[in-house]
Amino acid sequence: MPPYNLYKGFSKLSPQEKRRLVLSGLEDVSVAEETLLSFQHPDGQTQKVLSEFSENTLSNYVLPYGVAPNFLINGKVTMVPMVTEESSVVAAASSAAAFWAGRGGFAATVDNMEKVGQLHFIYSGDVSALMLAEGGLSAYLRQRAKPLTANMEKRGGGIVDIRIKDFSAQLANYFQLHVTFNTADAMGANFINTVLEEFAAGLSDYFSETPGFSGDEAEPLMAILSNYTPNCLAKVSVCCDIAALGNPGGMEAGEFVRRFVQAVRIAEVDVYRATTHNKGIMNGVDAVILATGNDFRAVEAGVHAYASRSGQYRSLSRADASEGQFRFTLEIPLALGTLGGLTSLHPLASLSLKILGRPSAKELMMIAASAGLANNFAAVRSLVTTGIQAGHMRMHLPNLLKLHHASPEEAQRVEDHFAGKKISSRAVEDFLQNLRKKQTQ
Ligand code: MEV
Repeated sequence: MPPYNLYKGFSKLSPQEKRRLVLSGLEDVSVAEETLLSFQHPDGQTQKVLSEFSENTLSNYVLPYGVAPNFLINGKVTMVPMVTEESSVVAAASSAAAFWAGRGGFAATVDNMEKVGQLHFIYSGDVSALMLAEGGLSAYLRQRAKPLTANMEKRGGGIVDIRIKDFSAQLANYFQLHVTFNTADAMGANFINTVLEEFAAGLSDYFSETPGFSGDEAEPLMAILSNYTPNCLAKVSVCCDIAALGNPGGMEAGEFVRRFVQAVRIAEVDVYRATTHNKGIMNGVDAVILATGNDFRAVEAGVHAYASRSGQYRSLSRADASEGQFRFTLEIPLALGTLGGLTSLHPLASLSLKILGRPSAKELMMIAASAGLANNFAAVRSLVTTGIQAGHMRMHLPNLLKLHHASPEEAQRVEDHFAGKKISSRAVEDFLQNLRKKQTQ
């Protein structure tokens, strides 16, 4: 690492000054600067929009923007935009989508879209008086937040419920307002946090103004939404006659189902497998979240907390076979938005939503969940039949060729050689070395 000094006021520098300063310790400053500049958007206005999403922007970090066709979701053919760097994810989603399109497609539902925000506070007064004040406090806070909630209410959202929760047995004097929101088509983080901060001010005022309280007993500590969203769930399933599965991965259908169901059960009982199994689901979900300008960190945090809700981290999907039917289901919390945030500001996020037919948040939840189930199905199908590496390494081959600076002729020779053969990093490297040795002899 170049020897950097502590720097005060870095954020005040111009983008060019920042680039120069950051790169100054590198050996190849001009090449590095060219690299950064080459990823700048040619249209200055668009670049400004992108740069302003974050702080200290030096350039853009580009990832492939792709699409998985043939998703039949609730009877509607959907083309699903996906952003991912992992070579096999879009191919796997596309393959599973096409497979299930011929077998009835994905059936998805969303029953509830509630999100939670919390005002954590310290309370040192009479606890029973506080609990009795819940109704009055709730009405007071709702009234106080009216100017903030009016627009959201017009869009069908708003504050659903306000409860006081007593945690003082676990942590002395700790209480919280547990507030349930409906944020309609917005992910709603800003809305929720703004309302909660108003509640923080309102909490102190309520106790000052209400007889029986002195005004000093409650101290608001933090006002923030929760990324745990167990009541904002998408459910999606695929189902067909076992015989209609054909020969997945070259395996007889009954044998395939037995192995597939067992593989999913393992992810229900073993945390090591569950984590990887759920990672396979998130391959699809995150790719849709990124493509639509949603917050993948929020979703990841919520999803894994949900996977642990029984006290043990488990698979988010379930598979079963009964009465000749195979069914594969995913239940996943997804607090997504199709309004606000980056969804209209990022040109590609906005395009993704157009490709998806301008979905509501509920519809986007169903689409992302379908992509998750598709990737999960494709991964487990490979694991219990051919093994994952055959397909994965074939998709990864272009990356290996680039890594070894293979010329177009060498790449062709590698592709011909490995057609129908097992690909590994070692085997490709050895093959190229031999090829090059022969050429220099
Ligand atoms: C790789 O990105 C995802 C898998 O590991 C998922 C799984 O094992 O189920 C293949």
